[in-house]
Amino acid sequence: MTRDSLTITDNRTGKTYEIPITDDTIRALDLRQIKLNQNDFGMMSYDPAFNNTALCKSKISFIDGDNGVLRYRGYPIEELAERSTYLETAYLILFGELPTRKQLEEWIYHVTHHTFIHESIKKFLDGFHYDAHPMGMLISTIAALSTFYPDARHIFDADSRRKQTYRLIGKMPTLAAFAYRHSLGMPFAYPDNELSYPGNFLNMLFKTTELKYRPNPTLEHALDILFILHADHEQNCSAAAMRNVGSSHVDPYSACAAATAALYGPLHGGANEEVLRMLMDIGSIANVPSYIKRVKSGEKRLMGFGHRIYKNYDPRARIIKRIADEVFDVMGRNPLLDMALEIERIALQDEYFVSRKLYPNVDFYTGLIYQSMGFPVTMFPVLFAIPRTSGWIAQWEEMLLDPEQKIARPRQIYMGHDKRPYVPMDQRS
Ligand code: ACO
Repeated sequence: MTRDSLTITDNRTGKTYEIPITDDTIRALDLRQIKLNQNDFGMMSYDPAFNNTALCKSKISFIDGDNGVLRYRGYPIEELAERSTYLETAYLILFGELPTRKQLEEWIYHVTHHTFIHESIKKFLDGFHYDAHPMGMLISTIAALSTFYPDARHIFDADSRRKQTYRLIGKMPTLAAFAYRHSLGMPFAYPDNELSYPGNFLNMLFKTTELKYRPNPTLEHALDILFILHADHEQNCSAAAMRNVGSSHVDPYSACAAATAALYGPLHGGANEEVLRMLMDIGSIANVPSYIKRVKSGEKRLMGFGHRIYKNYDPRARIIKRIADEVFDVMGRNPLLDMALEIERIALQDEYFVSRKLYPNVDFYTGLIYQSMGFPVTMFPVLFAIPRTSGWIAQWEEMLLDPEQKIARPRQIYMGHDKRPYVPMDQRS
C-alpha cells in the first residue's frame, strides 16, 4: 500500500522524517523540523526564480506546458477565442463563472461607465517627454490612480474591491491611449460609451477629425481576441509581482503598477517589442541562418521563443497566427512575416531549439499584427498590460481571500562576510 508521504533520512544525524504529500507537493515549512540540533534554524529549500515552488493554490488559469494547454476557469483558450469576448472572459476570470446575460450587461455597463479619468492625469502626462516610453507613462498613471481613489485602500471590503475592478478594467485603455496620444502630440480622444471595449480603445487611439469613430470590424475583433489570449497566465512574473506587492495590503492600483512594471521587462511583456526590433535588425530572409547561428553560440537570444512553462507550441501562438492572416487581409501583408516564418521553420528543425524545447511563444507573432494595425513598437507591451489587468486583479483578490496567505517574505541563504569590525578610512586598502 502506498502512503501519501515522503520519508526523508538526514544522513548528517541518521534521523528519519515523514513529510505529508498533498497534491503532489510537500510543504516547505515541513522541512524546518529537519535540524542538526535544537539550536539549528532547520532545513529550507533553495529555489532561485521559483522554478519548482508553488506560491499559492489557484483556481484561475490552468496550463499544461508539455501539451500546450491553457484554460481559464476550466474553459479552453481556443473555445473562448472562438466564442467569447474580452469583457465576458474578464468576467469569467474575475468571478469564476461565465456571466448570465443580465450579469454580462451589468458588467459591461459598469466597465463602460468607468472609462473616464480625472482631468488632472492629463496634466502630469504633459510632464513626460514626447518620446517617453508609453509603458513608463502607464505605470506612473496607474500608480497615480491610488491618489484619486483613497477608498481603494479598503481592500477587505468586497464592494470597494468591485468598484476598483470596474475602474481598473475601465480606465486602463484610456490611460494607455492617452499615453500614446501624448507621444504623438495629438489631442486626447475621450471614451465613446457606444463602442465595444476594443472598439473604444481604437477610437481613443486613432480618432482624428471625424465626429464619430467607426472601428474596422476585423481589427476590432482581432484586438478582442488578442485581449482574450492575454487575459491571464497563472503565476507568471507580473502576476507574482501583483500578489507579492498586494500581500503587503497596499491598494490595488499600486499593486497593479508594480505588475505593469514587471510586464515591461524584455523577458516578459516587453518581448513582443524585442521581437520586432530583432526582425528589423535581421533585415532579410537571407540573414536568418547567420542570426540563428549567433543565437546558438549564445551571442543573441531568439526573442519570442522559449517559455518557462510551455515546452511545446504555445497554444496562444497558434490562434494568433490565424488572426494575423485576417489582419493582413485588411491591412496588407506585413513584410516581416516571411522572415518570422523562416525563423520558425529553421528553429523547429534545429537540434539546439528542439533539444531545449524552444517553441514560438505568444509574443512571436503579436508584434507583427500590432505593427500592421498601426501601433508603434513601444505600444506593444501596453497592448499586453490592458487585458492582463483582469488576470492581475483576479490573482490579487484570490491571494487576499486565501486564509493561508500572508505578507510574502522569501528566505535567503546568507553568503556574505561573517561579523567584522568597522575599518576607519585611513586603514582601508
Ligand atoms: N533563444 C535562445 N536560447 C534560449 C532562449 C531563446 N529565446 N530561451 C531559452 N534558451 C536556452 C537557454 O540559453 C538555455 O540553454 P542552456 O541550457 O544551454 O543554458 C535553455 O534554453 C533554457 O533556458 P532558460 O533561460 O533556463 O529558460 P527560462 O525558463 O529561465 O526562460 C524565457 C524562459 C525567459 C521566456 C526565455 O525562454 C527567454 O528569454 N525567451 C526570450 C524572451 C521571450 O520571448 N519572452 C517572452 C516569454 S512569454 C511572456 O512572458 C509573455
